[in-house]
Amino acid sequence: MTATPTLPTDAGNGPVFDEADPQYRGVARHEYLATLREGPVPIAWDMFGRAHLLRYHDVRSVFLDPEGAVNVGAGLAIALGATSGPLFDWQSHALIVQNPPRHTAMRGAIRSINARLARRLAPLIEEQAHRLVDEFPSDGVVDLVHAFCFTLPVRVIMGLLGLPESDEAQIGEWSPRALPSRPEGVPDADRVNALFREYAEARIEERRSAPRDDDLLTDLIHAQDRGDITRDELWATVQTLVLAGHETTSGALATGVHAMLTHENQWEQLRSDPSLAEGAAEEMLRWDAAAPEMGRVLTRDWEIGDRTLHAGTVVALNLTSANRDPRVFDRPDDFDIRRSNSKEHLSFGVGIHRCTGAPVAQVEMPIALRVLVERLDHLSLAEEPTYDPGFFRQFDSLRVHVRTDPRRAR
Ligand code: HEM
Repeated sequence: MTATPTLPTDAGNGPVFDEADPQYRGVARHEYLATLREGPVPIAWDMFGRAHLLRYHDVRSVFLDPEGAVNVGAGLAIALGATSGPLFDWQSHALIVQNPPRHTAMRGAIRSINARLARRLAPLIEEQAHRLVDEFPSDGVVDLVHAFCFTLPVRVIMGLLGLPESDEAQIGEWSPRALPSRPEGVPDADRVNALFREYAEARIEERRSAPRDDDLLTDLIHAQDRGDITRDELWATVQTLVLAGHETTSGALATGVHAMLTHENQWEQLRSDPSLAEGAAEEMLRWDAAAPEMGRVLTRDWEIGDRTLHAGTVVALNLTSANRDPRVFDRPDDFDIRRSNSKEHLSFGVGIHRCTGAPVAQVEMPIALRVLVERLDHLSLAEEPTYDPGFFRQFDSLRVHVRTDPRRAR
């Protein structure tokens, strides 16, 4: 099923790799990274000159030292050649790339996204998951990405922000194009980011004139009124939440279900014991990091293996590789929903930027799995999927055979 990865070339510094290499973009990503991670230098340079840290403990220690490694602001946009324009503007104000004190203020504005909120959302998530399965054919082929994995998290995040379900299709069309992985994607990303901002600002103004008691958008507007966040930070946060809230969960669900269906007995185990759903979700998150890498700039010299990375080096914390580090995960390339330490994955990051939405995803993913095993009599792969070329790890589509269980129809 997988291609053999070509060996990276040595450029004096250490190995170099091209993230656009079809092998890296496709199913061979993990073999490709293992070759690099287990080589003599556990660092690989990408085509943008960023040093990818590949081992778990290196990645974790950089995450945990927000003074020794700071965020890069619009660094990703700049690396793609966007030094101004809508993509650059969004990236400049996005919470995820800020440092304290702006980061602290912006994070405070969304502190209501927490485990308590996630538990409160559970019945709504379950209802939405059932509604989506209601639309499946009783016996036929369905694209699980669009019919389920993508739509469920979009509905959840739109619901949290109090945005109408009727905007879902538009958001679904923009999102995969908003954050490109290659410079060629920038012009389209600029167009989409301009539209996204216009959309966010229009919804903010609507809500400002008709505030609600119970939605995150109203909370964010209050935070701006109090002076905690700026006007730019407000629209950028709305856009970040919409994107971060579903592209990630959607990718993790789709690549995880695929892993479940292509590894012997995993789906069957879950079917016979749905209480395994929480563990299965963590293993899915470990298996293929949906947000594959996070950038930082080093502010002091760091020892990585026997190399020194100097202050000023731009690093990419490669979560995909860290999650398969055999120093932490026994038999890392086995997909095992009963793995005892899958929760140690780094897919949500760790430290001050740890994913705000992790509690939501950790409620949403097990619910999604339980609804699927409960409602489906049969689920199998109809064809091998191809990967989306964007930043997030996701399939273009995931075509599966489904047969719904008529006894479980609602
Ligand atoms: C499987 C699902 C998800 C994955 C894999 C994921 C991944 C991540 C990662 C790796 C970070 C850390 C960034 C860094 O350290 O540079 C992050 C941050 C963030 N995530 Fe998630 N995320 C997921 C779901 C969500 C959801 C559902 C939401 C919103 C409800 C969300 C909102 C955010 C926000 C706002 C941040 C920025 C936090 C900060 O910078 O302080 N994410 N996410």
